[in-house]
Amino acid sequence: MSDALLALESVEKSYPAPGGALRVLHGVSLSVGAGQSLAVVGPSGSGKSTLLGLMAGLERPSAGRLRWRGRDLSPLSEDGLASWRRESVGFVFQSHRLVSVLSALENVLLPLELAGVAPGEARERAAAVLSALGLAARLDHRPSQLSGGEQQRVAIARAYVHAPPLILADEPTGALDADTASAVLDSLLRLNAEKGSALVLVTHNSEAAGRLSRRVTLSGGRVA
Ligand SMILES: Nc1ncnc2c1ncn2[C@@H]1O[C@H](COP(=O)(O)OP(=O)(O)OP(=O)(O)O)[C@@H](O)[C@H]1O
Ligand SMILES: [Mg+2]
Repeated sequence: MSDALLALESVEKSYPAPGGALRVLHGVSLSVGAGQSLAVVGPSGSGKSTLLGLMAGLERPSAGRLRWRGRDLSPLSEDGLASWRRESVGFVFQSHRLVSVLSALENVLLPLELAGVAPGEARERAAAVLSALGLAARLDHRPSQLSGGEQQRVAIARAYVHAPPLILADEPTGALDADTASAVLDSLLRLNAEKGSALVLVTHNSEAAGRLSRRVTLSGGRVA
């Protein structure tokens, strides 16, 4: 048995389409070790977001399987998969998907509340992570009262406040200026180095990709 945290074995993904199934991923095999950092690069439409959605258990493969610490995830029910995801994965979406009626602080509190962290400690940790991302003065703002880059930083804080073993980030710095983007990447890499959270980062920025320990290129739904 390998010591992979998450392993994909010959994963295929197809979507129904009018002219027959659209095959987006063609037999992708890939593993992420505990504490590793992996950049996923490749042209638009090559299947990067689809791959991340599968790795997060938000979608299921059409064929092939995923293993988490050696355990096959395919027999899990939807509830089982959701509770695995809550404990194991932090996800930053390409579009940030914050809860619009909650403040920045309340959005970041969500994963801590789900993990049963005591309210006082949860508020302290959430505020500290937001402050480290330059948002100390925006804790009580709702998403509509934040700039695009600020919303993205709240989404990043929410993905890693509970220090999950795996963080999946889909172009998390796409909407940010160069300095903020670099600060966000610094925080993700610091978490990777200090807490040992494995990091899978989709990026179009080859300088950013170069700061991670491994790089995988997707091309037409295959690992190139
Ligand atoms: N739910 C879906 N139903 C049908 N087709 C889909 C669906 N999701 C993605 N696709 C198709 O799968 C292909 C890969 O999409 P994906 O979002 O994974 O690309 P990507 O590599 O993340 O691209 P980008 O760099 O533009 O974000 C695209 O051609 C897209 O149209
Ligand atoms: Mg994408």
